[in-house]
Amino acid sequence: MGSDPQSAIASLDARSERVPPPEAFAATARVRDPEVLRRADEDWQGWWAEQAEHLRWLRPWDRVLHWDPPHAQWFVGGRLNVADNCLDRHVEAGHGDQVAFHWEGEPGDARSLTYAELRDEVARCANALRELGVGKGDRVNVYLPMIPELPVVMLACARIGAIHSVVFAGFSAQSLTDRIEDAGSRVLVTADGSYRKGRTVPLKEAADDAMAATDLVDACLVVRRTGDPVAMEPGRDHWYHEVVGRQDADCPPEPMDAEDVLFILYTSGTTGKPKGITHTTGGYLTQVASTARLVFDLQPDHDVYWCAADIGWVTGHSYIVYGPLANRVTSLLYEGAPDHPAPDRLWEMVARHRATILYTAPTAIRAFMRAGPEHPAAHDLSSLRLLGSVGEPINPEAWRWYHEHIGGGRCPIVDTWWQTETGAIMITPLPGLTHAKPGAAQQPFPGIKPVVVDDRGDPVAPGEGGYLTLQRPWPAMLRTIWGDDQRYRDTYWSRFGSDVYFAGDGAKLDEDGDLWLLGRVDDVMNVSGHRLSTTEVESALVDHPAVAEAAVSGRADALTGQAIVAFVTLAGEAEEHDGLADELRAHVADRIGKLARPAELHVAPDLPKTRSGKIMRRLLTDLAEGREPGDVTTLANPDAIRALAERTRQARAAARSPGNSE
Ligand code: WTA
Repeated sequence: MGSDPQSAIASLDARSERVPPPEAFAATARVRDPEVLRRADEDWQGWWAEQAEHLRWLRPWDRVLHWDPPHAQWFVGGRLNVADNCLDRHVEAGHGDQVAFHWEGEPGDARSLTYAELRDEVARCANALRELGVGKGDRVNVYLPMIPELPVVMLACARIGAIHSVVFAGFSAQSLTDRIEDAGSRVLVTADGSYRKGRTVPLKEAADDAMAATDLVDACLVVRRTGDPVAMEPGRDHWYHEVVGRQDADCPPEPMDAEDVLFILYTSGTTGKPKGITHTTGGYLTQVASTARLVFDLQPDHDVYWCAADIGWVTGHSYIVYGPLANRVTSLLYEGAPDHPAPDRLWEMVARHRATILYTAPTAIRAFMRAGPEHPAAHDLSSLRLLGSVGEPINPEAWRWYHEHIGGGRCPIVDTWWQTETGAIMITPLPGLTHAKPGAAQQPFPGIKPVVVDDRGDPVAPGEGGYLTLQRPWPAMLRTIWGDDQRYRDTYWSRFGSDVYFAGDGAKLDEDGDLWLLGRVDDVMNVSGHRLSTTEVESALVDHPAVAEAAVSGRADALTGQAIVAFVTLAGEAEEHDGLADELRAHVADRIGKLARPAELHVAPDLPKTRSGKIMRRLLTDLAEGREPGDVTTLANPDAIRALAERTRQARAAARSPGNSE
C-alpha cells in the first residue's frame, strides 16, 4: 500500500506559522524550563527514575533498566500496586472526598464517585473476582460500555494482580470470542446493554454469542445498565450488583513486580489476526502518570479533566483511567454519543462541569466543525485552559477551528503522537514551552528518542520524509505480543535492527527539527482514529459465501481521516443483485464491528493481479483515492483494472446524482 512517505509530504502544506503558549498559561505551567528536555536527553534513565519517584513503591527497584534488545525490563526488582497508586495513597493523604469521576449516562442520569468511594467499590469488585476464582496472573475479559464499572473492574484486576483484556463494546461477538481465546480468559464481565444515540444496544446478547463459541468462559458478571431483559445462564452468569454488593470493602492491594503484566489490549496488525499488546506495571504507570502530569499540565486541586475517548481503546486506558487517577485529578466520564440528544452535548457538559482540559480526536473535531460553530458558541467554555488531540494527524484547518471555537484562542493544543504499543504519549508539544505548529506533533517527550530514517535505516536530512523509529527503550513500551514473542520481534524490531523500534508511521523532520506525522506506511488503515488492517476486513468479506476474493484499501475522507473501500469478486454461483453490497457491508459489521464496515464496496469480475497471482493493492488504492491507476504493465490481466476503474466511476457518479437518498 502507500509505502511512500514522500507522496504524503507533497500534499502537506508545511507552514512556518508558530503559535506561542499563551502567557497566562505559560506563567503557571508545570514545565517552563527548556533545560528539562536537554537534561532528560543526557541522562534519560535518570529522568525516568525521577518520574518513577512520583509513585508509591512497596519495594524500591534495584536497577532502572535491563535492556536486552528487543526486551526491556524497567525498575527491576521494584514492587508496587497500580490500584494502590491510583486510589489508596490519595485517600490516605486526605483526599478521599475529592471526586475521581463525574460520570454521565447518555440518557442524562449521573453519578459522581469520590476517591474513597471508588477505592471501596474497587476493593469489593476485587473480592468478587476472587470469589469467582480469579487469581494473580489470570486473564479477565471486559466487554462494557462507558459506565463507572468499567474502570472499577480494571482497577479491581490491578488490585489482585489479574490481567485485564478490555474489548471495545462496539466490537462484534466474533471479535470478542477471538480475544477471549487468544488470552485464555475464564471470566468475562459485561452488561445487559448500553445506550447509543438514544437506543439500547444488547451487549449481553453479543456476549452470549461470544461465550457460546468457546468453552473457556465459566463465569460471567453482568452489570445491570439498561434493564432490558437478558438470558442468565445458571451457574455461569451472575449479576454484578449481587456478587459485588455482598463483598467486603477491605482488600489489600497485591504487591506486584514492576514487570508483572497489567493488561493486554488487542490492536490490528498487518495480518488478519489482532495482536495482544502486552503492558506491564511499573514502567507503564511511570510513563502514563508522568505524561498525563506534564503534557496535560494537571493541577489536581483545580482541574476538571475530560478525555472524550472510549476506555476500550488505549487512549482511555492510559488517559481516562491510569494517568489521571495516578495524578489524583477529577475527571469527566461520558457514556454516549457526542451529538446526542443534540450537537451541543459536549459543550453543554463542559460548561456545566466547568471542565478545564479536553482531549479528543481529529475526527471528532471535524464532526464538530461540520455541525457548526454555533453549538460551542451557545455555551460558556471559558473554563477550558488546555486542549489535546490524538489518534491521527490533525489537519491544520481542524487545529485552527479547535483553537478558535473551542479554546477561544486562549488554550494551548497538545497534538500527541503515540500508539497502543507505546502505552503512553511519545511525541508532543509541552504546553507551557513549545511554540505550536498546527498539524505537527513536533517534539519528543523528555527521554524519548525518535529518529526518522530512510530505507536503509539512516537518519534523513531535514525536509525529507522517512520512517519513524524509536531508538531508545521507554518505560511504557509493550513487552511482547501475548503468546507470540516472535511476532513481536518481527513486527517491531526487525526492519532496522533489534534495538530500533519501527512504528509503522511515516514522518518528516522539518528545518527546525520538528516532527510531522504522515500516517501509516503499512497495510493498516486509520478510520476515525481506529486502527484496522486491510487483511482483517478482507478476511471478513471472504468469509461470506457470495465472495470469492476481496481487496480492501483506505481512501482519504474529510471526516473520518480514512474510509474503507472494498473490491470483491463473487463466488461461482453467486450473482450480483441490488442489496448485495449492503449485505456484505453488514457482514463485515457482524464479523468485526460497525467501525470496520466499508464505506464503498465494488463488485468486479476480476481483480488486478501480477503474473504470480498476487493482487496489486497499489492499483486499487489509486482507484479508491479517485486517481488514475498507476503502472499496469506488470499485470497479468490489465483489462481488469480498466473495467474496475469504469465501474468505480459509475458507482460514484450514481451515488452523487440527485434523487439518491444517501
Ligand atoms: C496514529 C492511539 C499523527 C498513528 C493512541 C499511530 C497519530 C496510530 C497521532 C496508533 C498523532 C496517533 N498524529 N498520527 N497525534 N496519534 N496517530 O494504537 O498512525 O490506536 O501509529 O493508538 O495512530 O493508533 P492506536
